[in-house]
Amino acid sequence: MAQLALLLIFGFSSSCNGYFVYLNRSGTISEIPSNIPTNATKIDLRNNIISSFGPRAFSNFTSLLMLEASENPLVSIDYTAFEDTKIDNLILAYTQLTQIPDLNAPSLRHLHMQGHPGITHVDFVHLTLLYSRLRLLNVSICSINYTRWPENTTEVTIKNFDLTRNDLNTLSNGAMNSWRRLSFLYLEETGLSTFGCSYINDTELIILKLSRNHLTEFPDLQCVGQTLEILGLARNLITAVAKEDFRDLVTLVSLDLKANRISRLDEPLTMDEHHFNAQIRQDKEMEHKKVSESCPLCSISREFIFHADTASHLSTKKLYLCKAWHRKNQDGK
Ligand SMILES: *[C@@H]1O[C@H](CO)[C@@H](O)[C@H](O)[C@H]1NC(C)=O
Ligand SMILES: *[C@@H]1O[C@H](CO)[C@@H](O)[C@H](O)[C@H]1NC(C)=O
Ligand SMILES: *[C@@H]1O[C@H](CO)[C@@H](O)[C@H](O)[C@H]1NC(C)=O
Ligand SMILES: *[C@@H]1O[C@H](CO)[C@@H](O)[C@H](O)[C@H]1NC(C)=O
Ligand SMILES: *[C@@H]1O[C@H](CO)[C@@H](O)[C@H](O)[C@H]1NC(C)=O
Ligand SMILES: *[C@@H]1O[C@H](CO)[C@@H](O)[C@H](O)[C@H]1NC(C)=O
Ligand SMILES: *[C@@H]1O[C@H](CO)[C@@H](O)[C@H](O)[C@H]1NC(C)=O
Repeated sequence: MAQLALLLIFGFSSSCNGYFVYLNRSGTISEIPSNIPTNATKIDLRNNIISSFGPRAFSNFTSLLMLEASENPLVSIDYTAFEDTKIDNLILAYTQLTQIPDLNAPSLRHLHMQGHPGITHVDFVHLTLLYSRLRLLNVSICSINYTRWPENTTEVTIKNFDLTRNDLNTLSNGAMNSWRRLSFLYLEETGLSTFGCSYINDTELIILKLSRNHLTEFPDLQCVGQTLEILGLARNLITAVAKEDFRDLVTLVSLDLKANRISRLDEPLTMDEHHFNAQIRQDKEMEHKKVSESCPLCSISREFIFHADTASHLSTKKLYLCKAWHRKNQDGK
């Protein structure tokens, strides 16, 4: 009952496993409330009117793991604001910051900075040295048009990186080569006209999303052929797809090529060398059907969706690659 009363009066809620959460999204808070217990592990001040976090603003919260302060009109955060905390997850989406803040927060592993039209420059060399344990970085929906990249030099721990909707246009050679743990890379709508292994060599990409860019060729992704499972290339300017493009992508299970300018296909696009079986069907009816007719053992996860806008821009073709089916057939022989 005492906890319920606290919850009603102050917006506290606590759980029995050692976590203490403070939450107040009232839209009226302009500075950190003085009644937050110092044992708080999570502080949620989303949607308020805080404009800055000063020196050692959170230092009394020595158990603090997570701060959610999105949708505040923040313009500055002091370098020492999180000193002496255990901050692991910092969620600062849609504020008025114009730079990714420099913080003394060596334990930080998740940094969510999406939704900052004021952020135009990011020095990833500096950032990855400062936050040397970072695993997730989200800087989508910003206006980043100038970047500096580590270029093969330092070991970077980032696993999940979202740069969707920025104004990059190009990446420098070797940009993410040293990001050896990079598994999930989102680069949609960033103005890229080229992409390939010269930026991500030595990574372990599982998901790569490159939709809504200006790519004219199927990217060379041979360096991640042993790990890549999902590849999104929709809404680019790719004009041709060939067998060779897939040669090394042995773990791929999902490919989206819809709304490109493909006028040439190796038809049928069979990939026998790599235990794929491919069939192209032009009838619209097939669009929502599973591949069971041609490929009884394929599950939906083995279905490749392939919309090729032909020169006439009329017919939609679907390509189904049935890895499991073909492998089974081969093994059976
Ligand atoms: C949130 O903070 C405001 C301003 O301090 C306070 O008036 C309000 O009661 C708080 N709401 C909750 C649910 O704690
Ligand atoms: C944190 O402090 C509050 C209020 O002082 C107390 O009710 C709660 O039990 C404490 N929680 C932990 C995990 O120490
Ligand atoms: C931190 O705790 C000290 C001692 O209880 C107190 O004087 C100070 O005002 C607190 N600082 C903040 C930022 O709450
Ligand atoms: C990054 O933020 C955007 C916008 O909130 C969200 O849609 C996306 O899923 C986030 N990406 C990651 C990797 O968390
Ligand atoms: C980046 O965008 C800002 C704001 O639109 C502009 O002032 C600046 O010149 C641009 N910089 C580059 C390198 O394009
Ligand atoms: C990083 O590697 C790429 C090739 O992957 C190379 O083109 C570039 O020159 C290298 N950069 C540095 C600074 O060594
Ligand atoms: C990727 O790295 C390997 C060796 O680590 C090297 O042989 C190859 O040239 C590199 N490829 C690119 C495109 O940088």
